[in-house]
Amino acid sequence: MSDVMQIPFLDLIAPHRELEEELVKVFRECLRTASFVGGSQVQGFEEEFAQFCETKYCVAVNSGTDALRFALIAAGIGPGAEVITVPNTFIATTEAISQTGASIAFVDIDERTYNMDPNQLEDYLKFRNRQSAIRNGRPRAVLPVHLYGQPADMDSILEIANRYGLMVIEDACQAHGALYYSKIEDKWKKAGSMGLAAGFSFYPGKNLGACGEGGAVTTNDEKIVQKVMMLRDHGQAKKYYHDFEGYNGRLDAIQTGILRVKLKHLSDWNEKRRQKAYRYNEMFAQIDSLILPYEPSRTKGVYHLYIVRVQKREELQKYLSERGVATGLHYPIPLHLQKAYGGLGHIEGSFPVTEKVGKEILSLPMFPQITEDQQDEVVNRIKEFISART
Ligand SMILES: Cc1ncc(COP(=O)(O)O)c(C=O)c1O
Repeated sequence: MSDVMQIPFLDLIAPHRELEEELVKVFRECLRTASFVGGSQVQGFEEEFAQFCETKYCVAVNSGTDALRFALIAAGIGPGAEVITVPNTFIATTEAISQTGASIAFVDIDERTYNMDPNQLEDYLKFRNRQSAIRNGRPRAVLPVHLYGQPADMDSILEIANRYGLMVIEDACQAHGALYYSKIEDKWKKAGSMGLAAGFSFYPGKNLGACGEGGAVTTNDEKIVQKVMMLRDHGQAKKYYHDFEGYNGRLDAIQTGILRVKLKHLSDWNEKRRQKAYRYNEMFAQIDSLILPYEPSRTKGVYHLYIVRVQKREELQKYLSERGVATGLHYPIPLHLQKAYGGLGHIEGSFPVTEKVGKEILSLPMFPQITEDQQDEVVNRIKEFISART
């Protein structure tokens, strides 16, 4: 087995080796100034990340989950409200909704982009309008997820939301730097700059990852900023004057310092991910039984994950694992079929596109430093598996 090439799903060591000196400097500076919570590192990062996202403001918080929960609460979401999202996301998206006291509504996804299908959103809202009784609360917001680093169809979602008087909060936790061409504004827009507010995650494996937990809210709305800043700090704007109960949701100075070092490389890393994704696409082009990522001409994704769809997914995953190729499933069980959401009353068949796609997706090794040799190995193993079965 020792001569088998081991290919990680994600290499978190290589980028840190490259940046080690700079990162250690951040830690040393924090030790020497004893500036651990708040201060110039945090503010500096917030300014730089807002600039990167092309938003007026950024508020750094403890995690992507906090970011989404705080953004929703700041937008006025709470008990009596319903927030509409997709069932093929990480549970943090829906935890953030429930933890505000609001209820969750799901709509199905587009089979090609894996993002919220605007037609399903519209159908759901028409259906809700026809209902005389308010079942779980009134629809108040839409929470599209830019899954795998590909922006959702924001023009359509914003237009529908606008017509129905709903707010839009983006889950940009996987989409740092992803671009969407807005026909309404006639320009390319960054993920996290299109809705009323957005949540980002800086979990280590994200395109921009901390050396620990981290997240941020981006927005152009000053009221949202003020509220999120208080929410992350026990409901206070002035020390020991608490206007409401908040959270301990601050991001510390060491993590923001680390993120500032990495942010300088993010565009380059994103471009590398794109190039690797296109290289995979080219190498897989002749294989009919693989469905490759679809990138509409209006989006420029950042390939947080590179997903293929294939029949006999479990068998292929096992085959690859036995040959040193690590893969992932994002996500194997749709949220509406999770035990945690049994109370919502959904069954197998409730969201057929999500369910179908969920059985076929496989996430292949993807990170900026993946080498051509490593990619060749992944592709050859998959080709080998497929040709043995056709
Ligand atoms: C789509 C999505 N939403 C929300 C989150 C939550 O982010 P965090 O893990 O930083 O709380 C994640 C991160 O895993 C995510 O991928």
